[in-house]
Amino acid sequence: PEAITVQELANRMAEKGADLVKALFNMGMMVTVNQTIDQDTAELLVEEFGHRIQRVSDSDIDIDTSTDVDPEEALQARPPVVTIMGHVDHGKTSLLDALRGTDVVRGEAGGITQHMGAYQIRTKGGDHVTFLDTPGHEAFTEMRARGANVTDIVVLVVAADDGIMPQTIEAINHTKAADVPMIVAINKCDKEEANPKRIRERLLEHEVIVEEMSGDVQDVEVSAKTGKGLDELIEKILLQAEFLELKANPDRPAEATVVEAKLDKGKGPLATILVNRGTLKRGDVFVVGTESGRVRAMHDDKGKQVKEAGPSMPVEVLGLGGVPMAGDQLLVVENEQRAREVAEYRQEKATEKRTAMAPASLDTMFSALA
Ligand code: GTP
Ligand code: MG
Repeated sequence: PEAITVQELANRMAEKGADLVKALFNMGMMVTVNQTIDQDTAELLVEEFGHRIQRVSDSDIDIDTSTDVDPEEALQARPPVVTIMGHVDHGKTSLLDALRGTDVVRGEAGGITQHMGAYQIRTKGGDHVTFLDTPGHEAFTEMRARGANVTDIVVLVVAADDGIMPQTIEAINHTKAADVPMIVAINKCDKEEANPKRIRERLLEHEVIVEEMSGDVQDVEVSAKTGKGLDELIEKILLQAEFLELKANPDRPAEATVVEAKLDKGKGPLATILVNRGTLKRGDVFVVGTESGRVRAMHDDKGKQVKEAGPSMPVEVLGLGGVPMAGDQLLVVENEQRAREVAEYRQEKATEKRTAMAPASLDTMFSALA
């Protein structure tokens, strides 16, 4: 709790310092205007003078877990989170499909990815890898930039029959900005006009130097169509992951990131989240962005009900009070009251911010002059 001097508090309330000293004296405290009082005393005084308490510091209400570091001995290995990036139509979703052995492309309207999907696969060796698919359209740049924060490894998909395109460059820039290791998957190598060598050369111009060119960026020739190079791609991902020594503490209240969220007509607000640390359990109470909620049910990427989700696991969560935004943090809290308090505080702050940015109306300008 913050301490404040009597004079400072008097200034904030637009009262005389001496009056506060007098009031404190009546409460049994001998202090001068320059002395500090604690937060509880300050709050008593504020009420005594009939003012409303307005907390100004985020830390009074909001939660910040960024300084809450897990002890080394609590950390356990977790699967890598791999984001697939690349230009439109270069085969990101097809590659994921091939990796999952399923087919999402055909289910998508027009074959274009509208959302960032999250999937987890189990390799032949029993390792887990989490994949994030990203939409290929430029309008989603911001979402993609946010996505990079949960990413451990980026797989850059470049079609061997096309080349380095605007969104390829964008993906390279995001990856560099996020300081995340990259693996280049040169796709569509089954095509006759495929020219992987040219892709490697062109990547040099963007300071991506692949192993074949004596650099340290792993690259692999693949075909989502024939399945060529997929095992090799998985191997390279696992090699990179091993090098990163990815760990998280599974035994703590969960923290997760919203990958996508929507309002479902039947089920209400739905969010696909990716657990960063801790374990999310059915019944957990949480705050996510400006919304609060309680986990009513969770489904994995195959639509199967799960009771809990640990680090790097993507799940769809039911039980939100509203639809959060992609990139929002989900934090498990002690109880519903706390969740509501934080959510309401954040909503208030969001409204204040909007009001502050709204241009002053003529009415208020005139009344200010009068
Ligand atoms: P957006 O999500 O719209 O950015 O596209 P995307 O990168 O996910 O590409 P998608 O997987 O939808 O593939 C685009 C087209 O390329 C489809 O018609 C695929 O069938 C085709 N394609 C993808 N991979 C390969 C491949 O390895 N070989 C061949 N021949 N065609 C491929
Ligand atoms: Mg796609």
